Amino acid sequence: MGAPLRRGYSFFVHFAASILTADFGRLREEIQEAERAGVDWIHLDVMDGVFVPNLTFGPILVEAVRRVTALPLDVHLMIVHPERYLEDFAHAGADHITVHVEATYHPHRAVERIKDLGKKAGLAINPGTPLQAFEPLLPYLDLALLMTVNPGFGGQRYIPTSTERIRGLKALRDRLNPGCLIEVDGGVNARTVGEVYQAGADVAVVGSALFNGRPVADNLRALREVLE
Ligand code: DX5
Ligand code: ZN
Repeated sequence: MGAPLRRGYSFFVHFAASILTADFGRLREEIQEAERAGVDWIHLDVMDGVFVPNLTFGPILVEAVRRVTALPLDVHLMIVHPERYLEDFAHAGADHITVHVEATYHPHRAVERIKDLGKKAGLAINPGTPLQAFEPLLPYLDLALLMTVNPGFGGQRYIPTSTERIRGLKALRDRLNPGCLIEVDGGVNARTVGEVYQAGADVAVVGSALFNGRPVADNLRALREVLE
């Protein structure tokens, strides 16, 4: 395992650009524009049409993205029984692999497998899942991902009660594993990023507020300005 993710990142929000609303016809340009603009990670939302009511892509696309950017690839698996594909995503070039606690009978085993593959391990929970689901697994995580919309689509509205959950997760994290990063996913934009940051997020996943036809650099600046 490499150094803990949190080291060096503690005092500002990391921006993970979700390509879900990017123009896939010019994905290379979109990703390189995001990299030049200064995003920290590229977030890839893998959906199977079963765990969530939408389909996206698999390891082939992750491999293609790996070839066009040096940024860490943050792979969010919204698929049932994700353990079936961990090796494929690891070999495709994922740096972080996150599985949903609701999608596997054995989240601890999945997390350990991800780490054995030499990758950072994340666990995600849906808006309807009690925060306590993190408790037994937090000591083993590099990333704790809190969904702040129901997973499946970009461009949804931030669920307001999520802010209290971010605070609760921060308290859990500080107690059980201070090296674990808190990642918030869904509905983060210039109106919500301040609240998300103040509540304790270390990483904000941002899709439609970055990839929306306007220059990514302008969009990122607008988010950073809120935090200054
Ligand atoms: C939702 C995905 C998110 C999504 C975020 O299922 O996990 O990563 O792309 O998109 P925005 O920022 O538009 O809510
Ligand atoms: Zn995501």
